[in-house]
Amino acid sequence: MAYPLVLSLKYLLLPWTDSTACAVQMNTLRDLKMFYKYSNSSNPIYSIKQHLVQTKSMEMASRIIFLALVALASTSPAMASDPNQLGDSMRIQQDAQMVTVDDFFFSGLDKPGNTSNAVGSKVTPVSVAQIPGLNTLGISLVRIDYAPFGLNPPHTHPRATEVLVVLKGALLVGFVTSNPENKHHTKVLNKGDVFVFPQGLIHYQYNNWTTNSVAIAGLSSQNPGVITVGNAIFGSTPPISDDVLAKAFHVSKETVDAIRAKF
Ligand SMILES: *[C@@H]1O[C@H](CO)[C@@H](O)[C@H](O)[C@H]1NC(C)=O
Ligand SMILES: *[C@@H]1O[C@H](CO)[C@@H](O)[C@H](O)[C@H]1NC(C)=O
Ligand SMILES: *[C@@H]1O[C@H](CO)[C@@H](O)[C@H](O)[C@H]1NC(C)=O
Repeated sequence: MAYPLVLSLKYLLLPWTDSTACAVQMNTLRDLKMFYKYSNSSNPIYSIKQHLVQTKSMEMASRIIFLALVALASTSPAMASDPNQLGDSMRIQQDAQMVTVDDFFFSGLDKPGNTSNAVGSKVTPVSVAQIPGLNTLGISLVRIDYAPFGLNPPHTHPRATEVLVVLKGALLVGFVTSNPENKHHTKVLNKGDVFVFPQGLIHYQYNNWTTNSVAIAGLSSQNPGVITVGNAIFGSTPPISDDVLAKAFHVSKETVDAIRAKF
């Protein structure tokens, strides 16, 4: 990111001599959209820079990159993710002498997780805690096992979008969009089906069948984080007061206590 940014700032400082700059900007905005569309890179400025170096259109560059910066500034939510990687991996930068191939390796995802628990599901994470070489790379993996009628209860990943593929069995899945719509998108997935849970949204998977199910999911963070709604609300330490939860959920304090007792 740093190099293209410096480059684009340099172009930005080139004098603007064209009196019809506005019209040119409209044209270059269209071009910019085209470059976005055909860009292979997750970093549009870098792709645009590469294209411009190829076409050697420096004057064009000053305007397009200016617009790219404006576009980036106004669409930053779409760019939100882990920081860009700073090298082959942060681990390598920190202690190159100590890195071994095992820093990039994990074994055992073929083994089922133990689903003997209250919800009948088990998540086996493979994130930066298991693979140090994932540091700064913005990606991780989980295996999820579901007993018959097992549930991965409603939860959210504050730092990651999730893409899940069903390897065995079937799952009823869903997520709910943010306020004020709170639209519930839900679907039954069968073996081989893939589903996306957008970053930060509450989602779940339920194995509403009599056989085990297995899924693998990729997550767009080395450390996605998990907030399980029930545990966070009713299982916090110290507890959130009965007054607060009774009002929030429109129920009596006795009901709050009854639910809290399960967490
Ligand atoms: C983008 O992808 C196309 C098709 O895979 C490839 O021919 C081209 O070289 C790629 N460009 C860059 C900048 O990687
Ligand atoms: C699975 O977890 C349960 C509950 O913690 C435990 O009793 C049981 O021994 C575990 N089974 C295996 C195979 O580890
Ligand atoms: C689970 O399956 C049963 C039997 O097919 C069905 O009646 C029920 O509605 C399903 N539950 C959900 C949440 O879809």
